[in-house]
Order: sequence, then C-alpha cells, then structure tokens
Amino acid sequence: MKIAVIGGGSLGLLFSYYMSKKNDVCIYTRTKEQADLIKKNGLHLINGGIAQPPLKVSAAPVQDWKGNEELAIVALKQYQLPGLMAVLKANARSSVLFLQNGYGHIKLLSEISAPDVFVGSVEHGAVRANDYTVHHNGIGVTRTAVFRGDANLLQEISSVVPADFPVLLEPDYKEMLIKKLVVNAVINPLTAVLKVRNGELITNSFYFEIFKQMFEECALVLGLEHHEEYLQNLMSVCEKTANNHSSMYKDVENGRQTEIDAILGYLLELSISKNIKAPLIHNYYHCIKGKEQEREGA
Ligand code: PAF
Repeated sequence: MKIAVIGGGSLGLLFSYYMSKKNDVCIYTRTKEQADLIKKNGLHLINGGIAQPPLKVSAAPVQDWKGNEELAIVALKQYQLPGLMAVLKANARSSVLFLQNGYGHIKLLSEISAPDVFVGSVEHGAVRANDYTVHHNGIGVTRTAVFRGDANLLQEISSVVPADFPVLLEPDYKEMLIKKLVVNAVINPLTAVLKVRNGELITNSFYFEIFKQMFEECALVLGLEHHEEYLQNLMSVCEKTANNHSSMYKDVENGRQTEIDAILGYLLELSISKNIKAPLIHNYYHCIKGKEQEREGA
C-alpha cells in the first residue's frame, strides 16, 4: 500500500519505520532539512536499547504532499493540527488516519472532505533521538476506529502492518478516544506536577487520593456511564507503565510545549459549558500552563 506519514516527530518516525517494512512509505516533514537527512541516512529505530537495521524511505517537506497515496497517517500533536488544516483540506482525497491524543480535534475532522476518516489511539512509547532516529521504548498497540467511511478499509490497513506493530480495530471511536483521554487527563498532569513516575500515583497513598479525585472529576464532566470500566483501564495502564515517565512529565522537564490544551483544556471547557465544578481539572490545567509560561520566559 502507498502510505503518506505526515509529521517527523517521534510518532511520525515510529510509524514510518514499521509501516515501511511492508509498504511504500513517504514521510512528510515540517522542514526540507529533516526530509533530506532522512533520505541520506535512512530511518533508524532503537528498540529496547538495540539498534535495528536502518530502512530507506522516501521523504519530502509537507508542502509537497499532494495526497496521491492510498492512506495518509497524520502523526502530529493536536496543537499542530490547526496549522496544517489548509494543507489537509486541499489534499486529503483518499483515507486519512488521525493519531492525536485528546478529543478536541474531532470537530476539525468534519472539515476534511476525504471519504474515509479514521482515528487512532497509540499505546506505544517513543522518543525522537534526532531527525531520523527514534527510540521505541514502550511496546504497545495502536487502536483504530472509523470516524467516517468504510470499515473494510480499516480492516485492510490492519493487515498491511508488520506483526511486531499491531493495529487493532475498535467498534466505537468515541469510547476509544475518551478512554485514552481519561488515562492522559489523570496520569499526565499529575506525574508532571508531582514529578513522579506513573506507578507512584497508585502506590503512594497520598497521591492516590488525588488520582481518585481527578478520575471522579473527569468521569463527572464526561458523563461516563460505565464508570468502573474506565477506572479499571486507568489503573491497568498505570500498573503496566509504572516505571515510565509520562510524555507530559518529559515535555515539562525538557522545556517543550505540552498537550495540556488537548487534554485538560478540553475537559475544563466542557466543565464550564456544563456548569460543573471541577477544581482539580482547573488547578492542574493552570499548573501546567504555568510551567509552559516559565519556559517561554526563560
Ligand atoms: O502520554 C503518555 O505518557 C502515555 O499516553 C501514558 C499512557 C500516560 C503512559 O505514560
């Protein structure tokens, strides 16, 4: 299958590497410099500290994307999407798979005229080492669901991925994204502000109190019906990633922009529109925004 991967960050490099094992991939990057480096060096992946064989892929700056591939995988952070909407609207003609965290981007997807629009939730851990190298340090799965269009196509996509990079099909995109949103809304800001690994949120009895209250607030604001199921999922992610630092922890530590607007920003707006008091969501949102402001002032 001919696949375009849009975005040269950690997810873009990760998806390009694995997808190119069985497909004809072109990665579209923000800068021409990055595309040139990928063409020159190939894509490098380090899995559990072990360097894998580099792979040759096509690469070009995103302005050159014409939407000619059968599938476009949009591997950008949610806050980068608005800046790329004009390109996506003009060129997305076939199938597009969006891999953003959070839920706020869903309203943008209706503006895309492509017949098949899919969404995904990525459960891998990946860190970009340089313009063409990615560390795959948390082996997981990618869950996908139909937002609009043909489910058979999504089935076909799941069959062209290599066995070591599974793509699963979920029946309901809302439930899939909201489950991930709850995980990110509780784990990410708490670990970033308290400066702890994911597991400490449930092993430290004091932090666990905040963890439970944050979950309750999210559940209330989202109006979750199967409350227990979401809590179990959250606890199990926390246990499985106990030794990891969350992506938001790492973003704050490294002075990078975080995904707080897509995660707690979305929930805060929802709580205001529903007139629900959500003090933890409000406070943790502002703590992380404060960290981002410290970085801008530095
Ligand atoms: O953003 C992250 O770090 C991850 O989505 C998760 C699941 C919270 C694990 O660290």
